Amino acid sequence: MIPQEQKMEALVSLCKRRGFIFPSSEIYGGFAAVYDYGPYGVELINTLKREWWRAMVQRRSDVVGLDSAIFMHPKIWEASGHVAGFSDPLTECKTCHARLRADHLLEEIGVEADEKMDEASINELLEASKDRLRCPKCGQREFTPVKKFNLLVQSNLGNFTGDWTKEPVYLRGETCQGIYVNYKNILDSMRVKVPFGIAQIGKAFRNEITARQFVFRTREFEQMEMQYFTSPAQEMEEYERLRAARWQFYLDLGMNPGHIRWHEHERLVFYAKRAFDIEYEYPFGWKELEGVHARGDYDLTQHAKFSGQALNYLDPYTQERYVPHIVESSVGVGRMALAFLSEAFAEEELADGESRMVLRFHPRLAPIKMAVMPLQKKDGLSELAETLATNLRRTNFMIEYDEGGSIGKRYRRQDEIGTPWCVTVDYQTKEDGTVTIRERDAMTQTRIALQDVPAWLQEHMN
Ligand code: GAP
Repeated sequence: MIPQEQKMEALVSLCKRRGFIFPSSEIYGGFAAVYDYGPYGVELINTLKREWWRAMVQRRSDVVGLDSAIFMHPKIWEASGHVAGFSDPLTECKTCHARLRADHLLEEIGVEADEKMDEASINELLEASKDRLRCPKCGQREFTPVKKFNLLVQSNLGNFTGDWTKEPVYLRGETCQGIYVNYKNILDSMRVKVPFGIAQIGKAFRNEITARQFVFRTREFEQMEMQYFTSPAQEMEEYERLRAARWQFYLDLGMNPGHIRWHEHERLVFYAKRAFDIEYEYPFGWKELEGVHARGDYDLTQHAKFSGQALNYLDPYTQERYVPHIVESSVGVGRMALAFLSEAFAEEELADGESRMVLRFHPRLAPIKMAVMPLQKKDGLSELAETLATNLRRTNFMIEYDEGGSIGKRYRRQDEIGTPWCVTVDYQTKEDGTVTIRERDAMTQTRIALQDVPAWLQEHMN
C-alpha cells in the first residue's frame, strides 16, 4: 500500500504519465505554479465546468451567465480593496532564503492565522510560536519579519509610455468583480428582478508566494463564481439556500460526504455577514475547496462610490430602494479537479502481490466514457470495432478506440484513466453480431448486440 504521505506524489505522477496534467513549459525547465491540462485533463475540467454551469445557470430560472474580460479598468481593483489589501504575509527563511507564507507556517503547528491579519499581529504570533516553527524546506527556525505582499498581477496592456509600473493595469485577481460591474447592464437588459444571480467561469491570476500542492494553488487558475443579489432582509435565507445547493452539487457527482465538511470562518472581514468554506480531505489534509460567503452590500456600495453610478434597486413590489446584498459561491476549477482526482484515485492489489493505480471516476466525470477494442487487429475485427467507435461517437460522449497491445494491457490502460466501460469485438461478433461490455469496477462482462451499444451507453449515462 502507498503510504499516505506518498499518495500525492503518486497522483501527480499518474496525472503526467496518463495525459491529465503537465507542469507548464517543461522543455524549458518549467514555470512555477502554472500547469497545463492534457487531453484527459481538459475533458475532466470541461465536464466539471459543464456540470457547474448546468447546476448554477441552466437548471435555474433566477441565474444568468456572463463572460467578462480579464482586463478591466484599474480603478475597479481600488474599489474592491485589492490594490490596498489583497496581500499575503511573506516571510523568508534566514538560512535557505525560501519565501514562505507566515500564515501557512503557523497553520502547520496548529496556530490559526489568516492572510488578512495585519503585519504586526502576525509578527506577534510568529514571535510567540518561534520555538515550534520550522522551515519546510531546510528545517531551520529563523525567519525574517513578515511583509505584506500584494497578489495582484500587473501588466502593461494599453500603456505605451515605457514606465507602465506607475499606472499598471491588472490581470483580474477574481472573476466576480466583472460580475459586480455588469450588475447594472444585466438589470437594464434582461428581465431579472432581485433576487437573481449572475454566474461566470473564467481565468484569474494571483502572484501566490508559495507554489505548492500541484493544481491546488496556482498563479493562473480558473474560477467558477456565482453572485446572487438579494434584498437586505432576504440575504441570510438565500445564503442558507446557496449553501445547501453547493453541498448537493458535490454529492450529485459522487463525492463521498465523509470527504467534505463545512468550515466556518472565525475572523470575518468587516463587511461579511457569515462565511463558510467547503473543505475537502486532500491527500495533504483538509483544505478549502470552495467558499460560500454572505458579503452584505459592500461590493455594490464600493463600485457605486468609485464609479459615481447609482447601483441601487427599486423593488417593484414594495417600492423600497436599497443596494442589493450579495451571497456568493466561488470555487477554483483546478482545485475541484484535484478533489475529484483524489476521490477517484485508488490502489488495487493484483494477484501477484503487486499493486497498481486506478481512477474510479463517477461515469459523469470520466474523461472517456467507453473504449472500443478489437480482440485482434486481423480477420476484420478492427474494421468492425472502428465502425462501432464511429457510431458511438454520434452519442456525443468521448469514445476511445484502442487496438494496441494485449487485451489485458488495454483494459489496464483504461482503468488507469478511469474509463467506466470497455467494449470488445471478438470472433463471436462475426458470428452472431454481439460484443462484450466490461464494467470497470464490477469487472463483469455483459454480451449485447452490436447495434444496441450506443443506446446501452446513453441509458447508462443517464
Ligand atoms: N470572489 C471570492 C474569492 O475569489 P477566494 O477565497 O480568494 O475568494 C475562491 O477564492 C476560490 O477560488 C477558492 O475557494 C479556491 O477554490 C479558488 N482559488 C483561489 N486562489 C486559488 C489559487 N491560487 N489556485 C487555485 N484555486 C484558487
